Amino acid sequence: MVTRRRLLGTGLAAAGVGLTGASFTPLLAVDRAKASPAKAAKAANPPLFAVPLPKMPVLRPTFRTATADHYDVTMRPARREILPGIQTDLLTFDGNFPGATIKARTGRPVIVRQRNKLAVPTSVHLHGASVTQANDGDPMDTLAPGGERLYTYPNKQSHASLWYHDHAHHVESENVYRGLHGSYLLTDSLEESLPLPKGEYDVVLAIRDAHFDAAGQLVYVMDDQERTTLLVNGAPYPYFQVAARKYRLRFANMSNQRFYSLRLADGSDIVQVGSDGGLLERPHTTSSFLLSPGERVDAVVDFSRYAVAEKVVLENTLIFAGTPEQVGQVMRFDVVRTAPDPSSVPEVLRTLPALPAPTNERTITMQMDEGVAHPKGYMDGKSYDPARVDSSIRFGASEIWTVTNTNTRVPHNFHMHLVQFRVLERAGKPPAPGEAGLKDTVIVAAGETVKLQATFDSYRGTYLYHCHMLDHSAMGMMATMKIS
Ligand code: C2O
Ligand code: CU
Ligand code: CU
Repeated sequence: MVTRRRLLGTGLAAAGVGLTGASFTPLLAVDRAKASPAKAAKAANPPLFAVPLPKMPVLRPTFRTATADHYDVTMRPARREILPGIQTDLLTFDGNFPGATIKARTGRPVIVRQRNKLAVPTSVHLHGASVTQANDGDPMDTLAPGGERLYTYPNKQSHASLWYHDHAHHVESENVYRGLHGSYLLTDSLEESLPLPKGEYDVVLAIRDAHFDAAGQLVYVMDDQERTTLLVNGAPYPYFQVAARKYRLRFANMSNQRFYSLRLADGSDIVQVGSDGGLLERPHTTSSFLLSPGERVDAVVDFSRYAVAEKVVLENTLIFAGTPEQVGQVMRFDVVRTAPDPSSVPEVLRTLPALPAPTNERTITMQMDEGVAHPKGYMDGKSYDPARVDSSIRFGASEIWTVTNTNTRVPHNFHMHLVQFRVLERAGKPPAPGEAGLKDTVIVAAGETVKLQATFDSYRGTYLYHCHMLDHSAMGMMATMKIS
């Protein structure tokens, strides 16, 4: 069993991020229990390691031209078995939960026709991507029920493990929670030329939490502390049968609010090779890493250190909003066979361009009401207003943003649309190796300040920046930047 002491003592310190126990105290205890309609009738957690890890389907193009890959996707309600023997109602892309993985290549645009057969408006956002404003999935640029539209992704950026999700104003938090999220893997020749594990040994692990009522249906309550069932690729606490060789595991946190500190139960090495915006410059060997909502970590794990028939649990040592029994174990790797392994992790993965000289600096504060029944969220003291421009940026500028979480207990994270940025400092110190690469989402713990640099030289227009704890952004912790 994982104790609170252990999680505070090891996971966070090892991850080099200044989080404290207090920064994860379930904040809005006030009236929360009373507010939750399912409090009295919650489904028992399903058994651990009883179902296999679902392999995410890869979306097939409807057609390909000389210049682009075209896809058709329908957002529609669907029922799926998540808890044993129960059909759960979901909002899905094409009936898949999570949505199918889109595989793209740098230099080759992807065009997705999205049809909305749901009863709610949607706006599909490709998180981490550099796209024009019209294709960014802005909260106000919604697709009404019954409608359809094209989203064009130019894929001019380098390789990265991206993801897509709903972003419609005021409903994105619930829509994503109910199933509107999926992976988008962008590759390029640099990434392909490396001897990292490929094919069936390169696996997406989309982790999220959920709250099921006694009938096995998803409960959505803002800032719910009862989302205590963990799902990986849509399945509760699955097992994954692996060969005794290296795997590339693409961890993505698609939870609404939950932060994880992930480790293998035996504390053995995890070699982080990538973050939100693609490969790190050099691999970083660690025994644990943090993953906040929206963040991705690509890691290589060598299961050849285990004998066939050994099993190793992926643990979460960041225990809040749930007990260690509920949220302390995520999935299990079962080593079931040997396999040849021509893969390796090179000492140098890529070279990131040097940061340009900054042309402007600004400060941002993130805050939400603490200890009130109906909290609101703020960026620079203001709740989100789509009619307001909060930050005006000159096209071509390279800016240093100093982002401070002014809450004393609640953690936040900071996500910018359009750009991949670099973390310059966390709490006055250089970033830990795991967040020294390209990032689009970064943890900002309670009371903490993170300094980052972003360069706005791709597209003009208005784009969002926000806390990616989606309940927080839905409470107003979201703002608009205008690049012109
Ligand atoms: Cu995942 Cu506004 O983003
Ligand atoms: Cu985004
Ligand atoms: Cu937040």
